[in-house]
Amino acid sequence: MYEEYWGLKEKPFENTPDPRFLYRSEQHEEALMRLLYAVEERKGAAMLTGVFGCGKTLLGYALLDKLDKAKFRVAFLTNLQLEPVELLRAIAYNLGVTDLPRKKTEVLADFLLQVIKETLINNLNDGKDTVVIIDEAHGIESREIFEQLRLLLNFQLKDRFLLTLLLFGQPELRTEVDNLKPLEQRIAIKCYLDRMGEEDSQNYIKHRLEVAGAEKEIFTEEAIKAIHEGSGGIPRRINQIGDMSLLTGFGRKTERIDEELIQAVVKDIGG
Ligand SMILES: Nc1ncnc2c1ncn2[C@@H]1O[C@H](COP(=O)(O)OP(=O)(O)O)[C@@H](O)[C@H]1O
Ligand SMILES: [Mg+2]
Repeated sequence: MYEEYWGLKEKPFENTPDPRFLYRSEQHEEALMRLLYAVEERKGAAMLTGVFGCGKTLLGYALLDKLDKAKFRVAFLTNLQLEPVELLRAIAYNLGVTDLPRKKTEVLADFLLQVIKETLINNLNDGKDTVVIIDEAHGIESREIFEQLRLLLNFQLKDRFLLTLLLFGQPELRTEVDNLKPLEQRIAIKCYLDRMGEEDSQNYIKHRLEVAGAEKEIFTEEAIKAIHEGSGGIPRRINQIGDMSLLTGFGRKTERIDEELIQAVVKDIGG
């Protein structure tokens, strides 16, 4: 709608996990490097925590982009508040196992673990490492599920893990896992994403505008500072404010977006 008016090729502030827009702040870069290390060096398990909207899911997609499809088989799951055994079923399904029994029986968890183990070994024989990413893992409520995840991590050969498990979630996840020592001890790598500082917010905004094809300065420096203030340095909020201010500025036919417009938008968005 407003792209042409601002001389943009596309919308700069979409809240979608599109790795093309990835701004490599120091913390995002470091987290991505650690996740990549966990996968490529087969560290077993890693955990990425951070407040809502800071870029965890996006980093997951950026990681997928970096992995050679010929070498890695990846299941990317978003925790959907599943029953204990259902998460194992979802993992098996996402790893390509199709003929899964539907009946819930006592042995089903063991059966699914066995099926997953066979899949891991098949992948290995195909020359592929298996990676399971569980996004929104803070939503996992039962200890039984965490216990099943721990059992998955038991699948090892003499000298290597058969699976890399990556857990992404909000800060509560870290607390939950820290309270489950047997699982916690298996998580070799931990990383954390926090709100961005002022400088990162500024560079983030400029980066996204550049990727979207901006050729002139759309936001005044004061406006960019105001976006940081109004968003608390959370990328998802920056995107909301950025998108709304481009729309509002377009509606008002302003030449540039200034601090005052941002403040009005921040007030409208609330939160
Ligand atoms: N480093 C980044 N570079 C570019 N965009 C980002 C970055 N971090 C977050 N975002 C944007 O913010 C939005 C929210 O990020 P998301 O990964 O969904 O957060 P989380 O999963 O931590 O809640 C995403 O749609 C994404 O486009
Ligand atoms: Mg997310």
